[in-house]
Amino acid sequence: MQRKKLVVGNWKMNGSKALVQSLVQELLALGPWPSDIAICPPAIYLGQCEQMLAQSDLAWGAQDVSAREGSGAFTGELSANMLKEFGCRYVIVGHSERRSYHGESDQLVAAKALVALAQGLVPIVCVGETRAEREAGQTQAVVERQLGAVIDALGQRISEVVVAYEPVWAIGTGLTASPEEAQAVHAKLRSQLQAASVAAGQVRILYGGSVKAENATELFAQADIDGGLIGGAALKAKDFDAICRA
Ligand code: PGA
Repeated sequence: MQRKKLVVGNWKMNGSKALVQSLVQELLALGPWPSDIAICPPAIYLGQCEQMLAQSDLAWGAQDVSAREGSGAFTGELSANMLKEFGCRYVIVGHSERRSYHGESDQLVAAKALVALAQGLVPIVCVGETRAEREAGQTQAVVERQLGAVIDALGQRISEVVVAYEPVWAIGTGLTASPEEAQAVHAKLRSQLQAASVAAGQVRILYGGSVKAENATELFAQADIDGGLIGGAALKAKDFDAICRA
């Protein structure tokens, strides 16, 4: 099945009003791109992005969302409908930094994906093993467990998400899974999706972890790698642009 590539920039806790202004302007000058492209700035800048990007084909999204529906006494939380109100198309859920620094469980990540989907957002569900887990031969079991929790929560609607495979040991380290290593995991994730949903062929599975212009082409050429989730390289317009064209 032909899937349109998707490249998403995860800015993490980086930026300022001035950086959003200049980076978004540079990106707008570099586009359009042959693939679907989105940026996920810190949530406080989503309004600024909405104003700058409303007339463009560059989409935007958030890095996290509350698992709580509606509104209420949940200090510090941002709801899916708030993100929707600011024009977000996507929301990242279960990034390894959320799982490790904020103790997010597979079940919480699944609940976030469910709430996001219910509000019309596309969840980008992150899965990935640590170095110790890879060395112990547990890569497949770990990512299957992480994706499995989301499949259990979403059922057939799993076909509406984006999955991102990000080996934890490759994030921000300069180490990347080889195209073959990544493809092997992506193919297994694809089979798991296929067992859960008849429409699994349409799910885009992104690779993330030290993706750069130099390695993106080879990674994105793999049969089940449908684009990338980009951290560090998403903060430089030229680098991000080169990845978007890979
Ligand atoms: P990186 O981050 O590209 O800086 O390795 C990727 C991510 O964490 O999404």
